[in-house]
Order: sequence, then structure tokens, then C-alpha cells
Amino acid sequence: MWKTSAAIAIAAAFSGNAATAQTYPARPVTMVMPYAAGGPGDTLARLLAQSMTPVLGQQVVVENIGGAGGSVGSAKVASSPPDGYNLLMIHISHATNPALYPRLKYDPVKDYEPIGLVVDLPSAFVAKKDLAPKSFEELVAYVKATGEKVNYSHAGIGSASHLCGLLFADAIKTKFTNVAYRGTGPAMNDMMGGQVDVMCDQIVNVVSNVEAGTIKGYATTGTERSAALPNLPTAAEAGLPGFTYKVWYGLFAPKGTPKPIVDRLVAALNEALKDKTLRDRMAQLGADPVTPERATPSALAAHLTSEIAKWTPIIKAAGVTGTQ
Ligand code: MLT
Repeated sequence: MWKTSAAIAIAAAFSGNAATAQTYPARPVTMVMPYAAGGPGDTLARLLAQSMTPVLGQQVVVENIGGAGGSVGSAKVASSPPDGYNLLMIHISHATNPALYPRLKYDPVKDYEPIGLVVDLPSAFVAKKDLAPKSFEELVAYVKATGEKVNYSHAGIGSASHLCGLLFADAIKTKFTNVAYRGTGPAMNDMMGGQVDVMCDQIVNVVSNVEAGTIKGYATTGTERSAALPNLPTAAEAGLPGFTYKVWYGLFAPKGTPKPIVDRLVAALNEALKDKTLRDRMAQLGADPVTPERATPSALAAHLTSEIAKWTPIIKAAGVTGTQ
């Protein structure tokens, strides 16, 4: 008797999953962006959501949940139902937060189903428009001479902007004052108001302001100059040889999301990345959508593992920990 009822229950569970997967998505899908609205993550998440919506046939809605370097929003998705309606669009901080936050409420590998990598982009060193230095070399000299009196803004310990600041402080052997925001969108507003001196923010968030002259651009952090800001040298060519820093974004679902739904999301991600509107806008902003072979669960899983291995010693050596 037991075997029959158990078999019926298992069959029902599978058929339930199969039925759910067949009708997925039956309602709007939430894409959590764990940084405040108006920042680079928000810009990239909205571009992806806009292109995934027609492919899935349901609205993909971006929900900004800032705080603690992206770990507040990440924890929310980790504990969400694994039904395909709660996604996480996150970047390099998914690899660094375990080393930064001792009591992290999630495991970036065990608590998620990777869908695929989405986009790579460099960052850029920018400053309030009336900061004296006229070149990146002069900015480095200024920060070295001014030290703690320099206000460097970022989106919280573990954020991409914070990590760039860590690398910069180590490269010039100088400590400066860190000012944390819930995202570099709000930080950029304060920089335009002259309240913040320097930031290393993802290029998508600085292009329009540098072109408008509302902030000052000094250098980009890629291995070559960005086509979006071709007049800016790379940090490597402008006085910090070997200094490169690229940010990547990945799309995740909660662990346990049924494979047919994961497969549907992988297909929708790949379709979205072919969208001309998305590709043209990302190109204007200096971001590179990944190639199809990288927009896969295995590519994202492998990249995350290698990034955790790369960044953990860097963060331990910097002696930095976040508070939640
Ligand atoms: C960061 O890591 O600096 C964030 O992505 C900035 C943001 O998106 O607000």
C-alpha cells in the first residue's frame, strides 16, 4: 500500500512540476537588483528585463533591494520560492560577499541555480567636476598627498565600486575615506552636487555625466580604452601599469528551481542578449553582452567559483569586513 501511495505522490510532484513548467511563466517575473535605482546595476537589469519580457511573454519587473553590498537583496532571492518568479541579477559582489560578511545569510553557490552570465564592463575613475587634478596621473598624486581627506564613494562594502576602491588603495599604497551608499546612483547625485570627491563606478553609470561635464572622467579600468569614452586613458596606460578591473553580471534563480523552468530562462536570456535595442544601448554605455556560450549555467557556475577563489585572498589581505 505504502509503495502505491508514495508512487502516486512522486508522480503527482513530477507531473505538478511538469505542468508548472509547461505553463511558466503564468504571471510577471521579478528580477531583484540588489542596489538602489539609478545606478549601473539598475540600468543593466532594466535593459535585460525589457528584452526578456517579450521572449517570456510576461512582464519581467525589476525590484531594487539595496543594502550591505548587495547581500540584502541576494538573501531575499535565496529564500524565495524556487518557482521561476524570483530572479537575481548580480555582479562580482556575489563572489566577494562571502569573504566580507561573516554572517552572510546565503551561500552564493549552494543557494542558487545559475542561469548564465549576462554582461562584462570596465569601471571608470571619476570625480566631482571642480576637483583640481587634470589627469589620472595628477589624481593619483593628489590622493596620495591628501589621503584620508579624500572622500571615496561606493555602494557598500562588497560592491563593485568598493572593490575597485580596494584595488586602487592597494595600488597607490594610500588609505582614503570611504562613503557608502545603497547604490552608486545616489552616490553619483552627491558627486554632481560636489559632496563626494572620487569614485570608481561602472562605466554605464558615468558616460553621460562625463560627456555632459557634470563630473570629471580620469581613466577607465579595462585592458584597452572604452569606445564609450575613447578620450579617457586606461588606468594602466596612465600611471598604474597592470591595473585592470572588469565587472561581470550573472542571472540566478533560487536553488531547486525546476530544470524545465531554468532551461526556459536560459533560452530567454540568450534571446534577450541578441536583442538589437539591448546591444546598441549597452554598446553606447560601454558594456559588452556575453557570447552565447557564456550565457549558460555551467559558464556562470565556473566563473563564480573562479572569482570566489580570486577575490577571497585579496579581501582577506585587505582586512575588510562588512556589517549587515
Ligand atoms: C556597485 O557595485 O557599485 C553597484 O553595482 C552600484 C550600483 O549598481 O548602484
